Amino acid sequence: MTLKIGIIGCGGIANGKHLPALSKIKEVEVVAFCDLNEERAIKDAKEFGSADAKVFTDYQEMLKEDLDIVHVCTPNSSHAPLTIAALEAGNHVMCEKPMAKTAAEARAMIAAAKKSGKKLTIGYQNRFRKDSQYLHEVCSQGELGEIYFAKAHAIRRRAVPTWGVFLDEEAQGGGPLIDIGTHALDLTLWMTNNYRPKYVVGNAYRKLADQENAANAFGPWDPKKYTVEDSAFGYIVMEDGSTIFLESSWALNSLDVKEAKTTLCGTLGGADMNHGLTINGEDHQMLYQKEIDLSIGGADFFEGDNGNDSSLNEAHSWINAILNDTDPVVLPEQALVVTEILEAIYKSSKENQPIFFNQGGKK
Ligand SMILES: NC(=O)c1ccc[n+]([C@@H]2O[C@H](COP(=O)([O-])OP(=O)(O)OC[C@H]3O[C@@H](n4cnc5c(N)ncnc54)[C@H](O)[C@@H]3O)[C@@H](O)[C@H]2O)c1
Repeated sequence: MTLKIGIIGCGGIANGKHLPALSKIKEVEVVAFCDLNEERAIKDAKEFGSADAKVFTDYQEMLKEDLDIVHVCTPNSSHAPLTIAALEAGNHVMCEKPMAKTAAEARAMIAAAKKSGKKLTIGYQNRFRKDSQYLHEVCSQGELGEIYFAKAHAIRRRAVPTWGVFLDEEAQGGGPLIDIGTHALDLTLWMTNNYRPKYVVGNAYRKLADQENAANAFGPWDPKKYTVEDSAFGYIVMEDGSTIFLESSWALNSLDVKEAKTTLCGTLGGADMNHGLTINGEDHQMLYQKEIDLSIGGADFFEGDNGNDSSLNEAHSWINAILNDTDPVVLPEQALVVTEILEAIYKSSKENQPIFFNQGGKK
């Protein structure tokens, strides 16, 4: 059986992740391409589409096609409406991260998935890196003991995304916190398997965004279009008393640069994701640290494991969940909690006070 896929949004992430990965999976074909910019859809249909692939500029027209799966790869403000429409049209949906601009939208996406009986997942591909897979195994086995302090890292020194609408508050709902902080927090919550926040204290800053002709990996930004924060920090206390410190920036005067990484501190040991993965602890009254060699094979976490190609591992895992009718690795309920915490950090910053969650993890 060949599953038919439609893509909405033929920009950076569709071309950098989804389409190259899907083109390597024999059980699927991409038959429909939609973008407001028709040229982008035509180009991708030629490069990645089936022989009879169709091109659309209106997603509602695309959803009339006979599809099995839709990938939503558009800016954050459209994640909820497009995902809900695709689910209601009877498709399984992979939506890019962050799940949505607001927690209310994310909840509506989950309700639509439940109603339709179709699967919904979010594009947190960092879970599918080898270091993440290994560390998740370590945590699942309880080898670090009780993890009571963690740091979620998403720090860039000068790498402000200047393409598309990343700097636009209305289109994206925020800056580095919602853009890359979301990956770091997702990884950290997944490792600790703790989705019950108690309260959050946060601060978002717009301090470097007014610089003209700034040094930047993606070229100088336009300060007038920069309506989101340039860094944000959150202190998250969970119901069980454990703490997570989340740090995120696109531009920060720091040499301690780390993105989509977590640091875990438990009663039996700790873990640091630096250039690789280091596990530390105490043994026979001596301290030890071991570097995990991720360069060699022999640790297949998924059927058809593809080494450190997190995009391909993510796509394989998602398609296998549909073929085998199992839960996807990234559950929408988990992505909702990430969105709830990010929203609370923004709210805390605006209101200058801690934001408490109700028991059970909902605000
Ligand atoms: N998983 C990751 O690590 C990762 C990395 C980059 C971006 N993303 C996410 O992917 C999404 C898109 O980012 P990008 O870098 O590809 O942006 P982009 O600007 O390069 O591409 C977005 C595309 O969507 C199209 N589009 C916008 N609204 C549309 C609509 N209603 N219907 C059809 N097409 C529409 C635009 O014309 C554009 O071509 C964002 O939500 C972003 O957070 C995820």
